[in-house]
Amino acid sequence: MKKKAPRQMTVNPTLHGKLWGGRFRERTNRLVEAFTSSLAIDRRLYAQDIRGSVAHARTLNRAGVLTRREAATIVEGLNRIRREFDAERFAFMPQDEDIHMAIERRLTELIGPVGGKLHTGRSRNDQVTTDLRLYLRDTLASITEEIVRFQRALVAQARRHVDVIMPGYTHLQRAQPVLFAHHLSAYVDMMERDKGRLRDALTRVNVMPLGSGALAGTNYPIDRVYTARLLGFSSVSENSLDAVSDRDYVVEVVSALAILTMHLSRLSEELVVWSSQEFQFIDLPDSFCTGSSMMPQKKNPDVPELIRGKSGRVYGHLMGVLTVLKGLPLSYNRDLQEDKEALFDVLDTVSASVPLCAELIKGLTVNRAAVARAADSGFLLATELADYLVTKGLPFREAHEVTGRIVRDCVDEVRDLRKMTLSDLRSYSERFEKDVLDAMTLEGAIERKSQIGGTARKRVEARLKVLEKTL
Ligand code: ARG
Repeated sequence: MKKKAPRQMTVNPTLHGKLWGGRFRERTNRLVEAFTSSLAIDRRLYAQDIRGSVAHARTLNRAGVLTRREAATIVEGLNRIRREFDAERFAFMPQDEDIHMAIERRLTELIGPVGGKLHTGRSRNDQVTTDLRLYLRDTLASITEEIVRFQRALVAQARRHVDVIMPGYTHLQRAQPVLFAHHLSAYVDMMERDKGRLRDALTRVNVMPLGSGALAGTNYPIDRVYTARLLGFSSVSENSLDAVSDRDYVVEVVSALAILTMHLSRLSEELVVWSSQEFQFIDLPDSFCTGSSMMPQKKNPDVPELIRGKSGRVYGHLMGVLTVLKGLPLSYNRDLQEDKEALFDVLDTVSASVPLCAELIKGLTVNRAAVARAADSGFLLATELADYLVTKGLPFREAHEVTGRIVRDCVDEVRDLRKMTLSDLRSYSERFEKDVLDAMTLEGAIERKSQIGGTARKRVEARLKVLEKTL
């Protein structure tokens, strides 16, 4: 075979503009180009990619690999590219297979062959996971802020309705009276834990992979701790193979967010149920509902329904990412490129859902009369009656039995528990005395739940106060 003369170094040094084209004789099949490209997905990483490249250039300069002039030229070029992106003026080229290649290609166009020095001691494998970690840091911070806003909306509605007693449910059957404020505060606590999970995941996201090279590390005397400091990472990865090939932090974030969307879905379900004609506990703002194309009377709670529905796609992505990672040999494999579409869709879904939940909570009105009606009927006080008998010395199991019989007879006679006279009650147990009638009020039932975590008004208000101060 005839030996080819060495290629001339030009702005685009390689075959058909591919930055890795040196080894190739044929141009990439068009189907392959389309199939392997991740640009449509990862272009949103441009700011993080540039941030990482600026830090890498500085690190190369510090290591004596780039002169100060060269590093400055590169940084200047990168800043120019950032401005092109910010102004939506960046022009992608057909050979740009991902955001990293697009930026490096443009850099060389702008500053000439010195741009080709940026990738010294670096691979897209350590670059892409660095970008993703930076992106997650930014996005999780903004999601956390949105969660706080949502929590504030819950607390404000709870405060506004601290006098409202509603039926608490188990099995969606009326169970015991609770404060509406207590019910809303439950979601505040769920969100506290969701934030905690994100914070916790962040400690493992915030690790700097640059310097891992493609898989084995780097030949250049770069100071990785310095790069980490420039980028605000709290530590550097300890194993290059692990650093370029694991996406456990993606799984962690997606799973924390799957739990969050599960919570949002449960709240959404309650909003749907509460706003139904059957419940009529709340009214959702018109501006957050939609009508029917056929039935003129309809006002549908599509927004909470969609939030509920979107939890499904988030769970799906969690399974997707886990399955992509399963069975991958070390280290980098192109499969890993599939992490981003899933992750970004999860981040987008959550970023859209949380503010909508906040708006729904802010905008809902409570139908106090309907809630009071629901709390006033049923046998919400049956447990109080049993507990009353316990105060009179009856073992709880027996008190439960006696009260159960009273309830059964009331149901048969279509009679409210509170319509029972003292002598009616005494026919079930001698232990009933005059003070039983005082025990049988909603207010009393609420106030007696005065231990930490109970629905007693004092407890709920104290908790709201803490939340108002800390959120
Ligand atoms: N676009 C790829 C990804 O998202 C990064 C490129 C690494 N490509 C490679 N052939 N090693 O994972």
